[in-house]
Amino acid sequence: MAAPTYHGAAKAFHWLTALAVFGLLGIGLWMTGLPISLLKLQVYAWHKWIGLVVLVLTVLRLLWRWWHPPPPLPATITRWERALAPAGHWVLLFLLVAMPTSGWLMSSAAGVAVAWFGVLPLPDLVPRNPDLFEALRSVHFVLSRCLIVVVALHVAAVLHHDVLRRDGIFRRMWPFGGV
Ligand code: HEM
Ligand code: HEM
Repeated sequence: MAAPTYHGAAKAFHWLTALAVFGLLGIGLWMTGLPISLLKLQVYAWHKWIGLVVLVLTVLRLLWRWWHPPPPLPATITRWERALAPAGHWVLLFLLVAMPTSGWLMSSAAGVAVAWFGVLPLPDLVPRNPDLFEALRSVHFVLSRCLIVVVALHVAAVLHHDVLRRDGIFRRMWPFGGV
């Protein structure tokens, strides 16, 4: 019998989110250094809009995952990896909620309301408050560095499994049939 893989919906959530996160990290690191300009305002707006797409995708994903738990790990996975893999995934899922939420809170505290894709006005989560804005800015910054480290470890773990151990872990998440 073929080894179990993630459901197609889980794969779609994973790869859409991964694409968005790589883009958001790249844009985030670039945009803060831009001089004040129309381009900077537009890039910030797109960063916020796509970041909020990640929040929606992650909430839907968590609900979906509740009903469809991940497939069982292969027998070759050691006992400590069996504990570490889900813990690492939970850290990623936590960061996927915390990153956009801290961004939304930060925008609210700055007094900059977000209109999603320019059409859907979103409520401010907190009233305007410059001190809170600075604190949330630091939170967003620190979380982004945590996310970079955890994603790097995640990709390294997948590479370790598939390149060194060839135990088919990547195939569990690969969206296009056999690899
Ligand atoms: C998964 C989602 C997100 C990721 C991965 C992400 C990542 C980042 C990164 C890497 C930076 C640059 C930090 C720095 O080096 O100073 C940044 C800055 C920023 N992000 Fe996000 N972000 C996300 C979601 C959001 C959302 C939803 C909002 C607002 C609604 C937002 C608002 C901002 C703002 C305003 C800045 C600039 C802060 C400054 O000027 O110092 N982000 N983000
Ligand atoms: C090149 C980049 C990436 C590769 C090759 C990759 C690969 C994988 C693989 C193979 C799995 C399944 C592991 C298993 O069998 O249990 C997985 C799960 C997961 N990945 Fe990634 N990933 C990448 C990027 C990302 C990014 C950027 C994020 C989010 C920030 C992410 C979040 C997750 C999460 C949360 C799971 C657990 C899924 C669940 O249990 O529902 N991945 N990834």
